[in-house]
Amino acid sequence: MGCCCSKRYFEEENGTIGYRLINGRRYHTLSESAYFGANDDEEAYRLSRYHDAIKEIWGGLFNSPVEEKLSNGARVIDIGCGSGIWILDMAQRYPKSKFVGIDISPILPTENLPPNVKFIQYNVLDGIPCEDSSFDLVHQKFLVGAYTESQWEEKVIPEIIRLARPDGWIELLEGDIIISNGSVTQRVARALHDFMKSRGLYANIGKEVPRMLERTNAFSEIRNQHKIIKLGKKHGKSSEETLRFFTSGLTSSRAGLSAWMNVIPEHYDALVETVSIEAEKYSTQFDQYRVCAHKKI
Ligand SMILES: C[S@@+](CC[C@H](N)C(=O)[O-])C[C@H]1O[C@@H](n2cnc3c(N)ncnc32)[C@H](O)[C@@H]1O
Repeated sequence: MGCCCSKRYFEEENGTIGYRLINGRRYHTLSESAYFGANDDEEAYRLSRYHDAIKEIWGGLFNSPVEEKLSNGARVIDIGCGSGIWILDMAQRYPKSKFVGIDISPILPTENLPPNVKFIQYNVLDGIPCEDSSFDLVHQKFLVGAYTESQWEEKVIPEIIRLARPDGWIELLEGDIIISNGSVTQRVARALHDFMKSRGLYANIGKEVPRMLERTNAFSEIRNQHKIIKLGKKHGKSSEETLRFFTSGLTSSRAGLSAWMNVIPEHYDALVETVSIEAEKYSTQFDQYRVCAHKKI
């Protein structure tokens, strides 16, 4: 499929696997990646579970005008694809197209893959092992916790542009930091923001991405969309699932964030539980941003 994957990043030089377990969750140990989420089966389940809600919120799997190309046979890559559920859903709908999913974590599906799907376990920050101009659609979703601001600008966006064909589309979806009137939610959201900042990550990257794309001058058209999602059961199924996605994301981040907040894991879990309760009580809000950009011919 025009990609190679000779290098493995998960075995350190002495042959030991670069993971560590903290309070029952597994994390990578790569010093060059600021990513702080867990990379275990529980995380794969969390990501897959949110898939249907995201489709409902955004009205489908993608928004770029590539339906016809996909039906006739196109090439698509999903960067930081997590459990691979978006790729598998796309591959089933568009059997004439070919799909590549790439992720640093060992949560990619390995069995019974459709013939039009390939998954690669790889660190995107080392450069994506695929040829220039080889994809009609380059997709990436929820990588806010993965790249520092300079990595976005100097590595990731240039890679995305390199991979897209002239006349191809790129589509990026990001979430923002949570906004709430609940005091515990405010405390946790502030801690998350500061913790991310301490790692060079930019919690509000969703708003910034379109400006970064504009600066490259690589696109003939950039379309931005913004959704405000009120969290909790009373706002419907997708809002309930978004709250679950957010709080389970906090749980996935427990190792780093509880240490940053200087609270023991049990106390941290109780705070996350209160974030859920406060969301039902106050108007907790989670913003998402989607940008679709058309690469110049
Ligand atoms: C919040 S998850 C989102 C996964 C998927 N895009 C989704 O929406 O379900 C972020 C993903 O980015 C991956 N990731 C983080 N840093 C990465 C890197 N440097 N290279 C490749 N994948 C990375 C993580 O392993 C994780 O699966």
